[in-house]
Amino acid sequence: MAKSWATFGVDLHLEPTGSGLRRGLTDALRDAVRTGRLAPGTRLPSSRSLAADLGIARNTVADAYADLVAEGWLTARQGSGTRVAERAMGGPSEPPAPHHAPEHGRLPLDLTPGTPDLSSFPRTAWLKAARRALAAAPNDALGYGDPRGRVELRTALAGYLSRVRGVRADPERIVVCSGFAQGLKLLGEVLRDRGAGSVAVESYGLFVHWNILQRAGLRTVPLPFDGLGTRTEDLSGVPAVLLNPAHQFPLGGALRPERRAAVVDWARRTGGLVLEDDYDGEFRYDRQPVGALQDLDPEHVVYLGTVSKSLAPGLRLGWMVLPASLLPEVLAVQRTGGWATGVLEQLTLAEFLTSGAYDRHVRAARLRYRRRRDALVAALASRAPEVHVRGIAAGLHAVLQLPPGTEASVVRAAAWQGLSLQGLSLYRHPSATTGPLDALVVGYGTPPDHAWAGTLEALCRVLP
Ligand SMILES: Cc1ncc(COP(=O)(O)O)c(C=O)c1O
Repeated sequence: MAKSWATFGVDLHLEPTGSGLRRGLTDALRDAVRTGRLAPGTRLPSSRSLAADLGIARNTVADAYADLVAEGWLTARQGSGTRVAERAMGGPSEPPAPHHAPEHGRLPLDLTPGTPDLSSFPRTAWLKAARRALAAAPNDALGYGDPRGRVELRTALAGYLSRVRGVRADPERIVVCSGFAQGLKLLGEVLRDRGAGSVAVESYGLFVHWNILQRAGLRTVPLPFDGLGTRTEDLSGVPAVLLNPAHQFPLGGALRPERRAAVVDWARRTGGLVLEDDYDGEFRYDRQPVGALQDLDPEHVVYLGTVSKSLAPGLRLGWMVLPASLLPEVLAVQRTGGWATGVLEQLTLAEFLTSGAYDRHVRAARLRYRRRRDALVAALASRAPEVHVRGIAAGLHAVLQLPPGTEASVVRAAAWQGLSLQGLSLYRHPSATTGPLDALVVGYGTPPDHAWAGTLEALCRVLP
């Protein structure tokens, strides 16, 4: 069958093929979007007029549109009709870079880890906090100010971090930074200035963070891991170690108690420094709380946090709680690097924390992500029982272990379905000695609510 339409300014040759009209039409439309023949934002004809053009039942068109909305290729809004989704572009390609890839490189169904559901950003509450914060800000808040960041935010963070994460936090020792990444950059430069040549890291992690350390002149040395997680008993020869003690990224476990103790013993014995990356500590779903490692020894552990998972990475807001001995050196580097985070954002976050809006947002988000996680686990149990899921007690992502040798083909098959997936191999340190494992790192927090069911369905379709 070959038909065309010319309505609403859209003139497209459509060839529904295969068995069944609905399926054929869905495939043909998907193909038109995927190949760019229907550009993002294009308004599609009404189901009535397309049905008339094609000589088929209106319900068939409506069903095909609904399928493509669920898959994320189209959007449907009352008053503005059915349109090609803004991000519906690209096609099967090389897997995207680990999760700091630009948004426009992604496929319409997105399980790339690293981003919360941005459509659930609490805009109204944030706006309210921003108004209040600006109205209450003294004039001097708009000046250059303290290189550690606004005292209002440091005070609010000290209260929040000790209440929720068990961090021993004094506002005087907190430095606000432009996300975790900038904090790491500052620490890397301080370590280099102290004469360090290397930092131990976990065998699986983020290239972007290893690169930050490397650009500061530090070699990254991967620690081995076993079935219980990262091994920390031998840290000889390095002056510092970067860890995700509460929730390893991407493998997902918490650092075992005896390994936490071993790191702290090493730091005390040798004067070493532990960089604790607590990137998603707010999202824990089991009953067992995993507090911050920093509480064990605030003079040897730098605690780093961020709003990138709890609110949005685009805010570029993070913080460090520093050992007293490190503070002057960090501030010296901070002063040479310009001003990290805008004061209005800082004051807004302070207001957001002290008003209780942050707690409310995190509690609601935790519930939504927990439901998604449960849906993922249930879907895997019934549709892909061979796939073992791990790392689900916390965070916004899960690791799906695949049969050996299948990771690349599953990622490619997903791309053909318009689904962005990342293999675990993207996160493996080039010098890691253990592994490799074939697995997917599934960011179930990433899709907006309306696309979640379709995205999960697409995932189940591509799993072995
Ligand atoms: C392991 C890990 N650490 C830290 C971060 C936060 O980075 P930033 O605050 O620079 O956005 C992320 C975010 O993707 C992450 O995955």
